Amino acid sequence: MAKAAKQLYACQNCGVTANKWAGKCAGCGEWNSLVEETDAGPPPGSGIRLGGRKGSVVTLEGLTGDTEEAPRIPTGLIELDRVTGGGVVPGSAILIGGEPGIGKSTLLLQLAANLANAGRRALYFSGEEATAQVRLRAERLGLADSPVALASETNLANILATSADGDLPDLVIIDSIQTLWSDTLEAPPGTVGQMRATAQSLIRFAKQSGSAVILVGHVTKEGQIAGPKVIEHMVDTVLYFEGDRGNPFRLLRAIKNRFGATDEIGVFEMADRGLQEVRNPSELFLGDRSGDAPGAAVFAGIEGTRPVLVEIQALVAPSALGTPRRAVVGWDSSRLAMVLAVLDARCGVSLASHDVYLNVAGGLKITEPAADLAAAAALLSSFSGVPLPKDHVYFGEVSLSGAVRAASHMPNRLREAEKLGFEVAVLPAAGDIEKKASAIQVSRVKHLKHLADTLSPCD
Ligand code: TYD
Ligand code: MG
Repeated sequence: MAKAAKQLYACQNCGVTANKWAGKCAGCGEWNSLVEETDAGPPPGSGIRLGGRKGSVVTLEGLTGDTEEAPRIPTGLIELDRVTGGGVVPGSAILIGGEPGIGKSTLLLQLAANLANAGRRALYFSGEEATAQVRLRAERLGLADSPVALASETNLANILATSADGDLPDLVIIDSIQTLWSDTLEAPPGTVGQMRATAQSLIRFAKQSGSAVILVGHVTKEGQIAGPKVIEHMVDTVLYFEGDRGNPFRLLRAIKNRFGATDEIGVFEMADRGLQEVRNPSELFLGDRSGDAPGAAVFAGIEGTRPVLVEIQALVAPSALGTPRRAVVGWDSSRLAMVLAVLDARCGVSLASHDVYLNVAGGLKITEPAADLAAAAALLSSFSGVPLPKDHVYFGEVSLSGAVRAASHMPNRLREAEKLGFEVAVLPAAGDIEKKASAIQVSRVKHLKHLADTLSPCD
């Protein structure tokens, strides 16, 4: 006799399951995120049987042996190739997450059209838009003639049957995983249970057929639908599409990649005719630099293997509040707190009665510790009212003692700065820069205090 389905409560935010309902999720602390779902066991056809059959012995192998490099399908978009590590791997599952309206459907339609134009079979299942809407977008992008096979469908069984019908596809796009449903589960589309079950079936289809499957996942802050996080562990590659809706620049970032590096970014610009690749991101991030205003410093950063120059802007103003404001966009707020504390304790510059705003231009998010020195320079410049020279770039990590520590890839950063016409680089005292490789002048800083002394407040 089949076992009765067990009642489970799954958190729509983090995916943790519980036997009893609770107001607050024990996993992530989110309120009202538990939704009742039926645990129907492993999805049908997954080959998993709990109990019953005795297992057979599998052949164990060593780590050495002939294994070929994964083949790749070039995407026709250099930035997407860069992020995926050279193109889409047949039989792999890719998740593309991002906020609604950021451009996921646009990017994937461009990808599908490129592959279809190159003679590959590309299927595009849209669960959110009618085929007419997708066609309109294709027309706007100038891709209406591409032989992409399109359907508006949300039923998993129909999608699998269609994909397996006739010639096997090279690429299957599911837009989005949150709209899919499988009738083996009672939960509504967009719940953790449905997302897991449908994603698992699609990934199995990818492995068996050799088709690459791309799943779109919306990231929502409201938590009404489960986020792509709950299926990240199942797929081979996780890409996030980031950007500001008020800003045309979009960054595609690899968070996980079983077939390539994870620290690469792809840069795109959302234009009238879809996403355009940006070959030289530094030019873009420095494009509209503010004139001689104090508080702007150019940081020579590294994203993945690629140097990126970006302006860091600071505003330091006397505060009328008991607890002054600290607001950061594009950088870590605890990193700002640390730099402020070091300026206070080690350099004698106290901003305790000032509001501090810090912004990374162009919508870029910086995670590198090497941005400390540039941020400190921007803060000191705004505080003192002395603009920084326009032809200077800054990089270096600031330690709690105030010492400026060496950063990685220093020669690469210098080369990029030189290429973009900068004349002086302010950088850590330690660390090899292969001086012969660049003609840019170098100003070494051992301690943050030295920088603070050169930027003393004007009266
Ligand atoms: P879309 O790909 O639908 O986003 P998502 O699938 O991530 O929800 O992109 C939607 C936005 O992109 C929309 O606000 C309009 C804009 N857009 C352009 O600016 N140019 C274009 O050529 C296209 C197709 C869209
Ligand atoms: Mg969309």
